[in-house]
Amino acid sequence: MSSSGARALHGVCRVSGDKSISHRAVLLAALSFEPSRIRGLATARDCRASLRAAEQLGAALVQKDGELLIRGAAELPRGEVAIDCGRSGTTMRLLAGILAARVGPSVLDGDPQLRARPMERVAVPLREMGASVETAPGGRAPLRIQGRKLAGIHYRLPVASAQVKSALLLAGLGAEGRTVVEEPVPTRDHTERLLAAMGAGIEEGRREGVRSIGIGPTRLGGLDLEVPGDASSAAVLAAAAALVPGSCVTVAAVSVNPTRTAFLTLLSQMGAAVEVGDSGGEAEPAADVTVRHRPLRAVEVGADMVPLLVDELPLVGLLATQAEGTTVVKGAGELRFKEVDRISGLAEGLRLLGADVEEGPDGFAVTGPTRLRVGAVDSKGDHRLAMVFSLAALLADGGVAVAGTEFIGDSFPEFFSVLRSLR
Ligand code: S3P
Repeated sequence: MSSSGARALHGVCRVSGDKSISHRAVLLAALSFEPSRIRGLATARDCRASLRAAEQLGAALVQKDGELLIRGAAELPRGEVAIDCGRSGTTMRLLAGILAARVGPSVLDGDPQLRARPMERVAVPLREMGASVETAPGGRAPLRIQGRKLAGIHYRLPVASAQVKSALLLAGLGAEGRTVVEEPVPTRDHTERLLAAMGAGIEEGRREGVRSIGIGPTRLGGLDLEVPGDASSAAVLAAAAALVPGSCVTVAAVSVNPTRTAFLTLLSQMGAAVEVGDSGGEAEPAADVTVRHRPLRAVEVGADMVPLLVDELPLVGLLATQAEGTTVVKGAGELRFKEVDRISGLAEGLRLLGADVEEGPDGFAVTGPTRLRVGAVDSKGDHRLAMVFSLAALLADGGVAVAGTEFIGDSFPEFFSVLRSLR
């Protein structure tokens, strides 16, 4: 039986700027000799690590009238740079690419959670380009990088990762010759879009279904960007509307970059009513997105779709508890290498709340609908699991105690206040 006692959500809301786009905008602007203006930057705690890093790279940052003005240093600093990336994997992997191409030593480190994540995936190709990159045992952070004049390479991504792709394109900006990255499965393309907006000669190709992105040594122009609302934060609110009977929620001015909208497509395949308004914005498109509750049905998610909704897969697990049939997610082994192992964390939490969940090596299967029950669950320090379990609390009769909600600020500090505004 599906839970139907929850209070419907209604209204129009906004979410702060997209986290992925904000990291890139700040770091790329720090590499430009021309001034950049960024409006609507993410409030996500993770992005502070990129802001601090930009300053350490010698950029001058000024907040003025709701805009961030950034002027990159004429030259990156020459001495050793030691950067604390906090819990932000995007900051660490993007910086690895930037610092590999800067002549000199640097150290990238972070919180214990970030130190547990795989870093060889960026180290291997950067070494191939000529940098020395030492990882700690197990291929983890801290990363000790000796950057030098790199040589461009042709590299096919063995894991579908926008962070690795981006690190290589950033390294390619300072390398001799062309750097070409091939992605057999498409991933988010914000780095390519912003580089193009800053005048970098990005070349895109496609052969036998594989997309390739090429870049050569470039002097970047300034960036003038309005950051659209965070697609993954909006996805949480869209999921809330799809889960609670009677709900209708509009999230205004959200990123509708086609590499980020797979979750909305999936939501409508599951039966929710999804409307996307006209989009505006140049480098990065934004539109209003409205989601209305309708009875949900199970779906299947395969490996080719995973990178385009990787951060939303825990939400798919929760939606599946309220959908008729068995939802199967496969080819999502990458979820085990996020802030925490999101497959086991999700399965454990949802099961505690009474859901029918089977954990697989690279995914999960959830059979619904089930009435979620009162319980205590632990996000294990992961912002996305904390939000999923907090949404489960809307459905469970009697509520759910969620440990670790303080981590939600890593991506969506306004989560609870926005949710309250819709009730
Ligand atoms: C991100 C890419 C994804 C995603 C992460 C942000 C990015 O990671 O999970 O939250 O901004 O490039 P991978 O590139 O490692 O898949």
